This record gives sequence, C-alpha cells and structure tokens, in this order.
Amino acid sequence: MIIAIDGPAASGKGTLAKRLAEHLGFACLDTGLLYRAVGRDVRSRGFRLDDTWAAVAAARGLDPVSLTDPGLRGTVAGDAASIVARIPEVRAALLAYQRDFARQPPGAVLDGRDIGTVVCPEADVKIFVTASPEVRARRRFSEFQAFGMDVAYETVLADILTRDARDAGRPNAPMVVATDAMLLDTSNLSIEAAFDAAVGLIKRKIGQPGR
Ligand code: CDP
Repeated sequence: MIIAIDGPAASGKGTLAKRLAEHLGFACLDTGLLYRAVGRDVRSRGFRLDDTWAAVAAARGLDPVSLTDPGLRGTVAGDAASIVARIPEVRAALLAYQRDFARQPPGAVLDGRDIGTVVCPEADVKIFVTASPEVRARRRFSEFQAFGMDVAYETVLADILTRDARDAGRPNAPMVVATDAMLLDTSNLSIEAAFDAAVGLIKRKIGQPGR
C-alpha cells in the first residue's frame, strides 16, 4: 500500500508521514531530503546550484546513507533544494529510488511535493497537507530555535513564501493538489489532532488501515 503526503514547507506533512508510518508499520521516506542532499553535494563540489550537469551528477550518485546528515535541515538547504528541484533531469534521476521505496511491502508513506501526482500517481491514499504561511513560518521558527539555530521569524516566513512560489510555479512536477487527493488544513490542528484527522481520512478512503 502506498500513502502519498504532499504539501508546502512546514505544513506538518513530515511529522504526519512519520506518525502514520509508525502507526501502520510502514516504511517512511521524506523525499525533500533527496533534493536537499543533491543541493548540498552540488555546493560542496564547488558548483552553482543551477548547473544542470553538476546537479544531475549529484542526483545520480546520491548516497541514501547521507540523508541522515543534520546539516540538511535549515533554510539554506531548503532553498538550495528548491533550486536543484526545478531541473527536470534531477527529478528524473531521483524517480526510480522513490518508486522502488514506495513499492516495498507491506507499504510505504512518502512525503513531498509531487508524490501523488508524479512519483506515485497510483497511490492508494493521497493527502495534501496545508496551513497558512504564517502558521507554517511560526512552526519552522520554533523548530529552528529548538535546534539552537539563530534565524529571524521574518527570514523564515520570507523563505517559505519564496519556496512556495518556486515549487508551485515550476513547469516540471509543480506542487499541485492531485485531483484525487484529500485536503487536510492543519492551521488550527495540533500534531495529534492532525494525525487523528488523517487516520479518519484514510479510513474513509480504504477502510480500517494497518495492523
Ligand atoms: O521540510 P520542507 O517542507 O521545508 O522541505 P522539504 O520537504 O525538505 O523540501 C525541500 C525542497 O525540495 C522543496 O521546497 C522542493 O523544492 C523540493 N522537493 C520537491 O521538489 N519534490 C519533492 N517530492 C520533495 C521536495
């Protein structure tokens, strides 16, 4: 079974994906980490982020073990990710890994921007998670503070708005709500309430999920 969770930055999709995967006994993949890692590798090799050749080489040679790098958090890595993510050949190079991951038994939860539309259009359940930009910026700001990262709230909000525009506006695999996705607005929901709401949506779609 495949569960696709898409949505903009800090909408709560990552936390939700992990909680759902735990609940269902499924594997979980944060696909944003793939793009973040490509951005990191392009930079560390001294290339520009919009250098197609360097970005494609980084995507093709990506080591999944390096996805646990804590340096992948943060606004700089997120911004770099959304630049390399615009390159169609980078997206193509990361497709097989994501699709293989998605097909593992007994099931997988993937979160990103194009899971329900491009990576797994056949997903059994598609949820598009959203929240207002201010709520998302506030959440991300608190996360950064908890990690001891010194970033201003205004910077976080500006970054989120820039990335929303870049992700929704790119011609290749833009962030759009799949026609068969269920919407979940977490603006006024706690993590627990968002989880309960998502379980409710899944039940409505496919009946009692999980173990
Ligand atoms: O955690 P957050 O939502 O801030 O970002 P992320 O999910 O780690 O994604 C970082 C960037 O990678 C996004 O802004 C997108 O540009 C890109 N991305 C993508 O294009 N497609 C995906 N499936 C996942 C991420």
